[in-house]
Amino acid sequence: MNKELKTRRVLISKARIQAQVKKMARKISADYQGKDLVLVGVLRGSFVFMADLLREISIPVEVDFIAAASYKGNTRTSGVVRINRDLSTGIRGRHVLLLEDIVDSGLTLSYLIKNLKTRRPASIEVCTLLDKKDRRRMPVPVKYKGFNIPDKFVVGYGLDHNQLHRNLPYISWIEEE
Ligand code: PRP
Repeated sequence: MNKELKTRRVLISKARIQAQVKKMARKISADYQGKDLVLVGVLRGSFVFMADLLREISIPVEVDFIAAASYKGNTRTSGVVRINRDLSTGIRGRHVLLLEDIVDSGLTLSYLIKNLKTRRPASIEVCTLLDKKDRRRMPVPVKYKGFNIPDKFVVGYGLDHNQLHRNLPYISWIEEE
């Protein structure tokens, strides 16, 4: 496996991400003021976004993670979603905000929303850094969005290609193999 990126182009710079994350956090802090908020990061991709967003949120907030997988080591979705790690927290009667690095086909989130709704949260909404709208197969109600992006395979800021490049501080794109 070639561990270096063949093509390395900055699609969204670190500075643009930082500015947008701050804006989103301000909106979330205002919208959920006085509410029992649980931020749920969808692992693994969301962990970088979670860490940055969380530190810009100015209201009390609880954090949990859920691990879901829909990709099977290649650049196209397999259409299968499974939960590899469930929440540690009970969400009944609480306000859940699901955090994603990217919404692509929408399969992961539509599955997770359906699953988590059975636990009777007071509300469940979606916050994603990236939205690849052209690839949507299942509708997902996105309340907070960082950037719309074209149908390119992107890495960095938590997003991987074969588990690498999550550490890039910006969003880059690579050609599909
Ligand atoms: C990515 C991403 C989302 C999902 C989006 O996760 O983090 O969870 O795919 O795709 P979808 O809208 O087509 O379902 P991935 O399965 O690659 O796992 P990872 O977060 O561990 O990288």
